[in-house]
Amino acid sequence: MKNTLSRLYKKEKLTMITAYDALFAKMFDDIVDIILVGDSLNMSFFGESDTLSATLDQMIYHTKAVCNGAKKAYIICDMPFGTYHTPDIALENAIRIYKETKADAVKLEGGEEKADTIKLLSDNAIAVVGHIGLMPQFSRSEGGYKVKGKDENSRNKLLRDAKAIEEAGAVMLVIEGVKEDVAKEIVESVSIPTIGIGAGRHTKGQVLVWSDMLGFFDEFKPKFVRRYLDGAEIVKSAVRKYKDDVTSGKFPGEEEIY
Ligand code: KIV
Repeated sequence: MKNTLSRLYKKEKLTMITAYDALFAKMFDDIVDIILVGDSLNMSFFGESDTLSATLDQMIYHTKAVCNGAKKAYIICDMPFGTYHTPDIALENAIRIYKETKADAVKLEGGEEKADTIKLLSDNAIAVVGHIGLMPQFSRSEGGYKVKGKDENSRNKLLRDAKAIEEAGAVMLVIEGVKEDVAKEIVESVSIPTIGIGAGRHTKGQVLVWSDMLGFFDEFKPKFVRRYLDGAEIVKSAVRKYKDDVTSGKFPGEEEIY
């Protein structure tokens, strides 16, 4: 049965994972509640150093693939950098996502400054997920990935952001890279579900990037990631075995030929 918003709202805890293709989406579909087609795909799938060059066409292509693979999970498509800098442009691009994919919601980064945009999209029948705290699309302008909520100003700003996003009509809120005590205050100040990534233990749900948690991206491990598999090593050792079999003439064998 499809995970609708009302079903998600009733659950005690929510598990979200990213996916970028039908194969992985199909594997995750029966297990998690929500699949995020994150613009993190620009880094882990496409090999860029940040998310900023992800395009709307790219996000739509991967969201279509995920929707082909996942039939139960609630699917969220990230709006990439530069596709929602005015409310009207955001609406035009979010309509494209809704028309060309089966995504249930779009996600965009930004706090109170994005309230007008979130309201316009919500008023036009598009479900919006907010994203506050450490916002990867700001990594270039802020000169890196900075944990938020470390001082009073930052705490107050985050609380204002969360409230403004909820009041604008967002259906859910991702909180990334925020001190746990501040994230807890945010959770307690809004009634929409909160999903944390590097935001501690008090959010209703958690999200991880699949290639981080399965150990396929092994260049570095952010503190908040828990690795559930040594994916890169498992794949590399299988491919090494395949190469050995080819070079030694063991593959193909009797049972693999016509
Ligand atoms: O792009 C992404 O994968 C995200 C998550 C890190 C929340 O926005």
